[in-house]
Amino acid sequence: MTYDPVACLLHWLMAVLLIVMFLFGMQMEELTLAERREALPMHASMGLLLLLLAGFRALWRRRHLPPPYPDSMSQSQQKWAKGLVHAFYLLMILVPIVGLLHAASYMDFEIHAFGVWNLTALLPSGKTFTGVFHVLHGTCAWLLIILVIGHVGATLKHAFMDKDEIPARMLPVLKRPR
Ligand code: HEM
Ligand code: HEM
Repeated sequence: MTYDPVACLLHWLMAVLLIVMFLFGMQMEELTLAERREALPMHASMGLLLLLLAGFRALWRRRHLPPPYPDSMSQSQQKWAKGLVHAFYLLMILVPIVGLLHAASYMDFEIHAFGVWNLTALLPSGKTFTGVFHVLHGTCAWLLIILVIGHVGATLKHAFMDKDEIPARMLPVLKRPR
């Protein structure tokens, strides 16, 4: 059994966008103030779109339950896998929300999302306040990426060591006809 096509589409679309956003965010730290003024509205707008996608994906998952795990996975493996999925959803929602709070308290210049919405007007700025959101946003983004690295490792283990159906559940083209 595989995930439904919408779940697969959302998974791969968001996987690409989240990795691009992470690299984009890391790159932004190296930019001059003038370059950041150009780049940040794009980062924020893309991040807010990702927040919407994450919300939609969570709702979709509630209505379209994932296929059951194969019996070859032990109870504890299934528990871990479920826990990690929850951690993913939490971080996919938390990273952009903390990013939004960071943009809302930004001090260097105003950040407009989608060219119209002035995010910086939402919260007061202050060195400590802004600094806390900056560190929190970066830390949550790193946690997400560390989880992704483990997740890819686990998928490779399923593909080459366990040789079970897990990889094909999210990439149905891998499924060989019986
Ligand atoms: C930012 C990158 C990624 C994120 C946030 C992510 C997140 C997730 C989540 C939340 C699920 C569970 C789906 C659900 O129940 O709704 C999942 C499943 C899956 N992902 Fe990813 N993923 C990412 C990248 C990748 C990559 C690069 C691979 C390929 C190696 C991959 C392979 C899979 C597979 C095979 C499943 C199905 C697992 C199962 O059947 O339980 N993912 N992923
Ligand atoms: C899931 C989506 C997002 C990802 C993966 C992401 C990732 C990152 C990363 C890795 C950094 C660098 C942090 C550091 O090294 O300390 C960063 C910086 C930043 N992000 Fe995001 N971000 C996302 C969404 C957002 C959103 C929605 C906003 C605002 C609405 C936002 C606003 C910011 C701001 C203001 C900075 C600091 C830029 C600077 O002053 O250098 N991010 N982001």
